Amino acid sequence: MCRLANIAVFASHGGSDLQAIMDACADGRLAAKVALVISNNSGAMALQRAKNAGIPALHMSSATIKDADVLEKTMRDTLLSHNIHIIFLAGYLKPLGLSILKTYENRVFNIHPSLLPKFGGKGMFGIHVHTAVIAAGETETGITIHRVIEAYDKGEIIAQRRVPVLPDDTPEILAARVLKEEHVFIVDVLAQIIDSQRI
Ligand code: GRF
Repeated sequence: MCRLANIAVFASHGGSDLQAIMDACADGRLAAKVALVISNNSGAMALQRAKNAGIPALHMSSATIKDADVLEKTMRDTLLSHNIHIIFLAGYLKPLGLSILKTYENRVFNIHPSLLPKFGGKGMFGIHVHTAVIAAGETETGITIHRVIEAYDKGEIIAQRRVPVLPDDTPEILAARVLKEEHVFIVDVLAQIIDSQRI
């Protein structure tokens, strides 16, 4: 590969996974550049993190563009105009439009805080995932990075990492352990993804 991969990161809230990607791009661990950050939430810390790093950060949602088709088209046009190669959903709580998935087929990835297919699907996001893992009496959980297709949490699994569940874990303690591991894992797996793509 002879040039940097342009990554667009979509995030709805804190953006600590985004930060891990930006840091790895900045110090050369990833041959990539976060070229665009999009959030459906104007108050997302993720947008602030991107702005702090001088990265274009856009709030795009039904609050900014009411018509769903126009919103999707605008998002797709924005991705194309920023010459995006890879889309990474890092805590993005909205579905991506079909035209975007089609244009970026096989180049859209999501990180999920469980060992899919366990604890995936509707309602399984954030603390709900870790609460369900503990309630089920699991002794291990983990992280999944998968391709994004129309069916929620169902795209091809690219990589998984196991994380132990300890006897005294609360959902919050478990969430923190998994998230810390995500910050390493996301960089490792993105490096492999970038290597395998012809940019
Ligand atoms: C992570 O746990 C990720 O697996 C999930 O959303 C969370 C994002 O965390 N999809 P943050 O906003 O990057 O801190």
